[in-house]
Amino acid sequence: MDTTPTDALISQLDRLAGEFAAAIAPLDDEQAMRATQAQFLGKKGQVSAVMKELGKLPLADRPRVGEAANRVKDAIAAAVDARLAALADARRAADLARKVDLTLPARPVATGHLHLLTQVRFELVDIFAELGFAVAEGPQIETDWHTFEALAIPKDHPARDMQDTFYVADEIVLRTHTSPVQIRTMQAHPPPIRIVAPGVVYRRDDDATHSPMFSQIEGLVVDRGIRFSDLKGVLTHFANRFFGGSGGLDVRFRPSYFPFVEPGVEVDFTCAFCRGKGCRLCKGTGWIEIGGAGMVDPDVFAAVGIDSEVYTGFAFGMGIERMAMLRHNVSDIKLYYEGDLRFLRQF
Ligand code: DAH
Repeated sequence: MDTTPTDALISQLDRLAGEFAAAIAPLDDEQAMRATQAQFLGKKGQVSAVMKELGKLPLADRPRVGEAANRVKDAIAAAVDARLAALADARRAADLARKVDLTLPARPVATGHLHLLTQVRFELVDIFAELGFAVAEGPQIETDWHTFEALAIPKDHPARDMQDTFYVADEIVLRTHTSPVQIRTMQAHPPPIRIVAPGVVYRRDDDATHSPMFSQIEGLVVDRGIRFSDLKGVLTHFANRFFGGSGGLDVRFRPSYFPFVEPGVEVDFTCAFCRGKGCRLCKGTGWIEIGGAGMVDPDVFAAVGIDSEVYTGFAFGMGIERMAMLRHNVSDIKLYYEGDLRFLRQF
């Protein structure tokens, strides 16, 4: 049976669909399939080459060839879709076949925690909050007046050498202690006052037990009839809450001099390690030095306009790093600031 050129062309087109399906059968990625699809259908592709023969055919036959060309294009697109679907099915089947042990523990998520000094600061504040103290704050960059003058520490006072000061400008310093918060609090609020002021302070000091930046917690109570025994009671309660565990720690005052309190004292707590028997930590004395304290000096009340004939008060200041060192047996103050995880993770 003779085939016409038209029939020959049509069967050539129909064959191309089969050739295409064979060409993409071994391929397993979509990009390669699309490239092959372009080879067949593009301007220089096999389908176009066949279609160039269209001009030689009788007009009446051309629609049949056009139909065949469309059939091939559809078949090629359908072959790609089918192959992609088959690959996706195979991937899903492989996923489902893979054995997953749902009882395995999950990978741990690395979480941070509060720095030891922050933990201790929160703990200190909590203990005083239980006694009804509020938290007060003040600026770290402070005026000379709030830091020294109002606290009865005049320009030529030796206390200013003791506290080697960073000057930011004339009359502006990095606060050397948290005591200026006393002044700001008394300026802002009439008595009764009962605050603690934790915060960072700065001194030109640098060795195993001193850092140029460290933290203190200041306390101030002002009211009618506040007495020295109130100071002792508050600090004794604090010593036992913070270090005590089983309680029984005592507080010892040694006469000392701070210009803004009168009388002024150095505060010692019974050594919590040996319970006063004497050990390496307390250098055999049974006592641990913890800070300074005293009754607010009438000169300080005068500086902030509080009548010292009506009101009395006590104040205290303690180093937070030192307390954390004693509580957690930290040997070097620098460990707090180095950010070494081997240290930080222990707390
Ligand atoms: N501000 C003092 C210091 O940094 C500590 C201090 C002593 C604070 C006696 C007080 C106090 O409130 O009454 O050395």
